[in-house]
Amino acid sequence: VMRFFVSFILFIVTHIQLSNGLKSRSDFPTGFVFGAGSSAYQIEGAAAEDGRKPGIWDNYTHAGKMVDKSTGDITSDQYHHYKEDVKLMHKMGLDAYRFSISWSRLIPDGHGAVNPKGLNYYNNLINELVSYGIEPHVTLSHLDIPQSLQDEYDGYLSPKFIEDFTAYADFCFKEFGDRVKHWITFNEPNIQTVGGNDLGDIPPSRCSYPFGVDCSIGNSTTEPYIGVHIILLSHASAVQLYRAKYQEIQRGQIGITILAFWYEPVSGSPKDIAATQRMLEFHLGWILDPLVYGDYPATMRNIVGSRLPLFTKNESEQLKSSCDVIGLNHYSALPIKDLPRTFSKYGSDYVRDISVKGLFLKPMLHRQEPMSHFDSRSLQRLLEYVKVKYKNPAVVIHENGLPAHGENYNAQALKDTKRVEYLQSYIRSLLLSIRNGSDVRGYFVWSFMDCFEILDGYESHFGLYAVDFNDEKRKRYPRMSAKWFTSFLTKEKNSA
Ligand code: NOJ
Repeated sequence: VMRFFVSFILFIVTHIQLSNGLKSRSDFPTGFVFGAGSSAYQIEGAAAEDGRKPGIWDNYTHAGKMVDKSTGDITSDQYHHYKEDVKLMHKMGLDAYRFSISWSRLIPDGHGAVNPKGLNYYNNLINELVSYGIEPHVTLSHLDIPQSLQDEYDGYLSPKFIEDFTAYADFCFKEFGDRVKHWITFNEPNIQTVGGNDLGDIPPSRCSYPFGVDCSIGNSTTEPYIGVHIILLSHASAVQLYRAKYQEIQRGQIGITILAFWYEPVSGSPKDIAATQRMLEFHLGWILDPLVYGDYPATMRNIVGSRLPLFTKNESEQLKSSCDVIGLNHYSALPIKDLPRTFSKYGSDYVRDISVKGLFLKPMLHRQEPMSHFDSRSLQRLLEYVKVKYKNPAVVIHENGLPAHGENYNAQALKDTKRVEYLQSYIRSLLLSIRNGSDVRGYFVWSFMDCFEILDGYESHFGLYAVDFNDEKRKRYPRMSAKWFTSFLTKEKNSA
């Protein structure tokens, strides 16, 4: 009874705190940035236009690998609609737009010649944003690399990738850094390699154990670990170059973004609790430990053993504090259950290493689960964990949003009340975390508008704006969430 009473009081207190906690953006610290995001392959279209060559997504989708057989060939066609889109962003009151550069549009072979039309496009987009006072937050590689680098040396599995990525980053800093003050080297290396080199459900689509191919290409016992290792070294190398050559003059910030679910044990059993901790170490610690402490978590070293690459002393030093800011993409909490290491039915090599049930299983990753229930305290728990375990780093929530399925622009899909509730609730949680001492600098909704979704093609959508994909003109329609976010953002601006 006592426990129930205490929980009840806590619930009321939190509830009062929450409902009083969110009127408009003016509740947030000055300088806090609100934005929305996208990524190049998912939103640009114009896939074979103006000198762009294929990236790994083009090959993957053209091989018919998406559930709905779709491609990003045209998608939301932002390439031709960027002016209209930037106007919509301005109308919404966004401080910032997070987008990625398509490496294969800018440097089509991954190294060597620059595509002047690609350069022109990104200059135009950036100029358009800046002319409306919207900060560009730019990701250099959002789950996508040029196909030529994949063909030449297996992309991020080869140390050659470090040099090519650094040269590409150098070019971007040089060309865009006068206007771009927020750089993200990679988006979600922890998903890139698990999805791309273990589960096989995103490109380069190797070792798709749970989906039946059973690792006929590549080696999923090592590739995810090698992939993250090379990506981290590429990140550190680009950051070192940015700091040495540009940062003082351009006065920008640089970081990396990771997928960061929160994990809850399915029961109070010590095994499930330990499994949840393993999950945190393998999923967050895998990237955050090297960035803060210079090495992978001890738990990973114990379990993965010699399959986990080593850092030299120098690399370790270079990685530590290689982020001015850490990006977290957070969607929800996931339940975690312990599994014996001998299980064979679920998961992949990586999942077997962690020996949990609850992530990266077919129903979870293959389709975005519709979230009929969500609990935004997942964000508070995540931020508290990051604050305590990683010395309270500067953090930006680079993605947060709610997927919906099916028709994307009928009356029902436009009236996305569930998404409004989701966003309100997560933004409230964010505010509570900030009040609790977490150093969060910004928040981006995923996504600004509907686009090609990495697991479901056009069967699921996250946009504040809907896009009519059957209409040649790709007409955009504001959802209720777009209207709500606009009023949340502009109330303060109008009264300021
Ligand atoms: C993760 C990825 O960064 C983004 O590309 C994707 O569309 C969203 N989350 C939703 O799945």
